Amino acid sequence: MSKSDDLKKQAALRALELVVSGMRLGLGTGSTAKHFVAGLGEKCAAGLDVKCVPTSEETRKQAEGLNIPLSNLDELGGLDLTVDGADEMDAGLTLIKGGGAALLREKIVAAASTRMIVIADESKLTERLGAFPLPVEVNPFAHETTAQMICEAISTNGLSGDVTLRGDDNPIMTDGGHYIYDCALGHIEDASSLSEALLNVPGVVEHGLFLGLATGAIIASDTGLKEFGEI
Ligand code: 5RP
Repeated sequence: MSKSDDLKKQAALRALELVVSGMRLGLGTGSTAKHFVAGLGEKCAAGLDVKCVPTSEETRKQAEGLNIPLSNLDELGGLDLTVDGADEMDAGLTLIKGGGAALLREKIVAAASTRMIVIADESKLTERLGAFPLPVEVNPFAHETTAQMICEAISTNGLSGDVTLRGDDNPIMTDGGHYIYDCALGHIEDASSLSEALLNVPGVVEHGLFLGLATGAIIASDTGLKEFGEI
């Protein structure tokens, strides 16, 4: 296991300590969340009683393979805890997500959770968001026109940078049947204003800025685990 993967696993194992029987859980997507789901599978095999909602088909497959009891959000009506990774996080718990193209379901699930705990290695922690290109999920219909409007929304926020279709000539399709444009902005000063401008573009389904959704974070580094917010 690489050093970074080991750190991801450490963060995931700490998050597993927060899980108790009876909980309704949101399961994140990505290489860090994968460690959490793997550990959860072991706990379920040992008798833990939880109901889970996966944030992607990839996570669903992993959870099904481990016999983790799955349900859906509409049936459960809400979640007690979601544990998910992030592409970037600042000290105020604002996130960029969507590197794994699962941002739409991740955001729906996080918004329906009383608690959302981010698990990550220290490389994800940043003073200023935006070095990671911001993913924006769009409807495939007239997506190039939508991309042009995304560029205008970015520009009215005083920002600039390449806006590229993920997958180029062979666009990747999200679980919801949408495309992703990655916006290489370098830095984001006002995430809230940018969020509003992007959501005002017809054709934009969601974007990867998670504002006020994470309630806590467990960040693993060489020197140990750091916790942010409420754990
Ligand atoms: C998927 C995500 C992931 O949480 C994010 O990309 C982090 O992934 P990893 O844990 O593999 O670094 O937002 O859409």
